[in-house]
Amino acid sequence: MRNYFLAFLFFSLLVGCFPSKQNELTAYNELYRPRYHFSPTKNWINDPNGLVYLQGEYHLFYQYNPFGTTWGHMSWGHAVSTDLLHWKHLPVAIEEYANPATQDSTMIFSGTVVVDHANSAGFGVDAMIAIYTSNVHKSGQGIAQHQSLAYSTDKGRTWKRYANNPILDIQRKDFRDPKVFWHGPAKKWVMALVVPDLFKVQFYESSNLLQWKLSGEFTGAGDTTRVWECPDLYQLKLDGTNEMKWVLSLSGAHPQGSKFVGMQYFVGEFDGNTFRKDANSEHQFLDYGKDFYAGITFNDMPDQRTIMIGWLNNWTYANQVPTHPWRGAMSLPRELRLVKVEDKIQLASKPIFEVKSLRQKERAVLSQPTSGSFEMEIYMADSSQLILSQGADDKVVLGYANGQFTCDRTKTKNHSFQKDFSSVESVLVPSKPSSIEVSIFVDQSVIEIFINDGAQVLTDQFFMNPGEMRLQPVGNVKIKSGWDLSSIW
Ligand code: FRU
Repeated sequence: MRNYFLAFLFFSLLVGCFPSKQNELTAYNELYRPRYHFSPTKNWINDPNGLVYLQGEYHLFYQYNPFGTTWGHMSWGHAVSTDLLHWKHLPVAIEEYANPATQDSTMIFSGTVVVDHANSAGFGVDAMIAIYTSNVHKSGQGIAQHQSLAYSTDKGRTWKRYANNPILDIQRKDFRDPKVFWHGPAKKWVMALVVPDLFKVQFYESSNLLQWKLSGEFTGAGDTTRVWECPDLYQLKLDGTNEMKWVLSLSGAHPQGSKFVGMQYFVGEFDGNTFRKDANSEHQFLDYGKDFYAGITFNDMPDQRTIMIGWLNNWTYANQVPTHPWRGAMSLPRELRLVKVEDKIQLASKPIFEVKSLRQKERAVLSQPTSGSFEMEIYMADSSQLILSQGADDKVVLGYANGQFTCDRTKTKNHSFQKDFSSVESVLVPSKPSSIEVSIFVDQSVIEIFINDGAQVLTDQFFMNPGEMRLQPVGNVKIKSGWDLSSIW
């Protein structure tokens, strides 16, 4: 008996010495590896899922392939943080599975986590409830998508799939990405999800998270060049007023047309049953770069902030970006605001203030070389440029001219892994000011750009040669402040 015990102890210690698959250690210093953005130690990720706060922890779940660096075997990866910046990897939360009896296999697509404070579903007070899309590959019959539930009663450490899944099925091949939240005024749970190919958002209501009833639909508006995915619905106060408005955001169309995917949103009202966009307002785009997708906001924030995280990639080339042993990263968490610009109500976003805690060495001079992970606030006058370079023929060029801001990544060394990657992004700055204030967050292979307090946003990946990065102003570019940012790992 004692020998068995010793052998068991030895084995446990041995196993403990080697990190589990998804927690394998890395120094997070590989070529192109972001230092202060979330990425998995290895393998593929796409959409953030189930963003939620519970008892001192922020949870980030995400679309994850535990077995490789391209899309497949979709499961929910999981990480937690106490400050929305430093993340601790946890084991896969909800795994792809197969039904041996029917030979069906089910992938776990995007969805939400809510905290069931009142135990409305019966899994326990403060149980975490995940509502996600089951993407079922039925043996011999193709794909079906419906909504399923899983729950955790140990702060997300272990998950059980609900025995009576699915909880919502309209017998369609494409029907996905539920966002669920508690609607205080109507005292009920609300779910927004998409019928992607019909460019339709449906709203459902429930008192117990298990039974759902259709309460409204939103369709016939917006950009329909790409299927609609990953809806989200949140209420924000219009800056400088007490007016509250609702925003419905969606992934799908990109401002540069059908080759790429991006995010659009509508401003309007939600009466608890359905969303109506304001009569005089059109769809707008959340980010004018190529690499911000599937963004969703946190549930149950401990303060009044609305915080969104998006996936830093684009389906057009996501499976080919030249990173290894991981593929895909998340944006900095962004605080969303509603502002009025030239009489139009629109979103503005900025990285959360917590990012300031990563500031290390101050960068007072623009041209000081950098290791490639820094933040900088600059003023750009008309017809000026800021060049980020690793040498003459390896550079990203930011420019401002005639009221248009551009980010040109066509001159980077490593861009031919996919034919559409090499591109120039642009965004118009309303009223064409003679000088703009630009806040830039560069992290090895990622650049997040916030113009005029986040009224225009542009996010891009770029792949330059390793080595020191140099910044070179052309024309009138002034530095307001700058810092090297420390690694979160
Ligand atoms: C968006 C998306 C979702 C889907 C998930 C699958 O990027 O296509 O619609 O749930 O990715 O991984």
